[in-house]
Amino acid sequence: MWSRYLALFIAASPLTSIVVADVIAPGNQTANIGSLTTWWHNTGEINYQTPVQHGNVRQSHLYSAWVKSSADSSQTYYNSFVYETIPRNGQGNIITPGDPSSVTTADDGVTIEAAVWITMAWTQFLYTSDAWVKISRHGNANVTAANVVIRPNNLGVKVTDDGQSNIYVFVPYNSAGLRFSVEFQDNLYTYRDSCAGPVCDFVQNWVPNGPYYVSGFTDNNAVMGTEPHDALMIFASPPPSSSANLVPDVKAPQTYVVYPGDVPVSALASASNTNVYFMPGVHEMTATQHLKLSSSVNWVYLAPGAYVKGAIQFTTSASSIKATGFGVLSGEKYVYQANTAQGYKNVGSNGDSLRIWSGYSTPGQQQTFTLTGVTTNSPPFNSIDFTGDLNSISISQWDYKQVGAYFGQTDGTTLYSGSNIHDVFYHSGDDTIKTYGSDITVRNVVVWKTKTAPIIQYGWQPRNIENILVDGVDVIHMHYSSNGSHPSIIGANQQYDVKETQTNTADTSQSLRNATFRNIRAQGIGGNLMRIVPLMNYENVLLENISLDQFSVRSNGIYQSELPSWTDGSGKAVSMSGFVINNFSVGGTRITQAANNYGPNAAGGLNIAPEYLANGRVVIK
Ligand SMILES: *[C@@H]1O[C@H](CO)[C@@H](O)[C@H](O)[C@H]1NC(C)=O
Ligand SMILES: *[C@@H]1O[C@H](CO)[C@@H](O)[C@H](O)[C@H]1NC(C)=O
Ligand SMILES: *[C@@H]1O[C@H](CO)[C@@H](O)[C@H](O)[C@H]1NC(C)=O
Ligand SMILES: *[C@@H]1O[C@H](CO)[C@@H](O)[C@H](O)[C@H]1NC(C)=O
Ligand SMILES: *[C@@H]1O[C@H](CO)[C@@H](O)[C@H](O)[C@H]1NC(C)=O
Ligand SMILES: *[C@@H]1O[C@H](CO)[C@@H](O)[C@H](O)[C@H]1NC(C)=O
Repeated sequence: MWSRYLALFIAASPLTSIVVADVIAPGNQTANIGSLTTWWHNTGEINYQTPVQHGNVRQSHLYSAWVKSSADSSQTYYNSFVYETIPRNGQGNIITPGDPSSVTTADDGVTIEAAVWITMAWTQFLYTSDAWVKISRHGNANVTAANVVIRPNNLGVKVTDDGQSNIYVFVPYNSAGLRFSVEFQDNLYTYRDSCAGPVCDFVQNWVPNGPYYVSGFTDNNAVMGTEPHDALMIFASPPPSSSANLVPDVKAPQTYVVYPGDVPVSALASASNTNVYFMPGVHEMTATQHLKLSSSVNWVYLAPGAYVKGAIQFTTSASSIKATGFGVLSGEKYVYQANTAQGYKNVGSNGDSLRIWSGYSTPGQQQTFTLTGVTTNSPPFNSIDFTGDLNSISISQWDYKQVGAYFGQTDGTTLYSGSNIHDVFYHSGDDTIKTYGSDITVRNVVVWKTKTAPIIQYGWQPRNIENILVDGVDVIHMHYSSNGSHPSIIGANQQYDVKETQTNTADTSQSLRNATFRNIRAQGIGGNLMRIVPLMNYENVLLENISLDQFSVRSNGIYQSELPSWTDGSGKAVSMSGFVINNFSVGGTRITQAANNYGPNAAGGLNIAPEYLANGRVVIK
């Protein structure tokens, strides 16, 4: 199906008038030329409505991409497969894996997205010098540089066009890779709420027989966010250096090589190998299994072009656990909250719902989980969690991508003490940057946030944590729908399952100390700066260089930040000292105490306990 489609594109664009001397590689020809690696799937299925067939990979129904390396003297544009992911993977809101009749109306986080056919595409390649990505779009209309916005816009990425229905995106070489969104301005979708009050959800006026339909919008249908209807992400990565030990030896006896087809789940559960190497091609697990690796396996490698439908669980007690490579791990066959104790049915359980990446941390044994290169698609639940001794596991994650997180509880990676993550893209439906431990560094993260929970989260229980640095977060989109669950850049929620009106849930023997959240930029309409339930003492917390573009209507309350006083069960208040907000702005206006524009009804929207401000425990400058 793909080849006919592609041929149509090529035929429609007269090659002769494209930028001088460029060559378009024929058919599915991919690059493997040192300065550039691209890949292709012969079983691409163009289908943005239903589950794809066994053995197939969902291919963008709109975009085609070719990549050229500036170091390639032949100036060839090679094909680069454009993947696609869709809400609920076309399965509907179902309870039982593979049973379309088991439809439920229970909330799975998706309201209108499936009804109005929201999609997210991505293409990925490896490069060692500047590259150009040529992009065409089905229908060929408006494929001009003037119609395109790149987010984040500070990466040096530039767009031109040829007046012939192609854009050319210049992607400068970056040793940390680049992850960005290409947005056609005639393809934006505006999320609107059912009301202008605090507890609403999205409505749509496109599909009369679809859910949450209204025939027309009024002023009560507040605008909550605007983003591409059909997203297109570009993930450019440097190839791993040979010294970094990120590619296992495919020929070594300790390497178990997995060929395309059905994944040998039971053989891998008892294998004695240390490495598992997924070859390029499509690998399938069923919707009622996942890969629980034998305890000897400490390294899973997904080759570029490997597309693995399933989930992976480590059981090793090795000190170094690794998941590397530029393949995709896709949860697309699972139902939401796939419960491993109940036949992978949609029954939510923080204990048993399936994480697409998981492991067991051996008590007392310090372990590190290294996750790099891979793309996680369509997680059915929190994407990365460990069980066992959570004090002896840390995460080392870079050049990691999460896409298609349309379901509700699709958190980012849980960061335990000692974790270090950088150069990451998260599409996430829930808590995204989870700084749950001490000595955590997070740098250079691009976030596309959907409708609930804060982007940075460290709440849900009192924590005794220190030395946390989050530096460099570009929030390219947010579409919060409700004031309900901390629609914030920085959030610390109330104790799990306790109402926020109960203000005596702190533990004053614990503290958050020396935490910095800085250089955070949120674009478009979105949530507030912070909603912090102080469940422990606070000492030296710095929020610096944070800018928000715009709030939705004030009547829904989402704009409002909260930092109330809180007590423990005996009525003793948490202590608060050295909490500084420096250089916070909303819509370009700097928010300070001196300018008196910080309060809940003023531009800043900060509702901070008056005693904190009066005593200089919290300073806004
Ligand atoms: C291109 O297509 C041909 C024919 O289907 C196939 O044999 C070949 O493996 C494909 N190449 C790539 C890089 O996918
Ligand atoms: C091209 O853009 C214009 C202006 O935004 C829009 O009206 C038109 O529908 C677009 N055409 C297509 C095919 O998307
Ligand atoms: C504060 O935390 C940072 C990491 O975020 C660390 O580098 C620094 O040493 C810490 N300062 C103190 C005084 O512990
Ligand atoms: C704040 O942002 C400015 C401009 O980007 C930058 O020069 C400065 O280093 C930032 N401050 C910190 C503490 O990172
Ligand atoms: C304040 O933050 C903005 C980004 O939000 C930055 O551009 C500016 O340089 C910062 N100012 C200072 C003095 O750091
Ligand atoms: C929004 O939620 C916050 C925190 O729960 C609450 O303080 C505020 O009153 C709410 N706003 C509205 C308009 O309900």
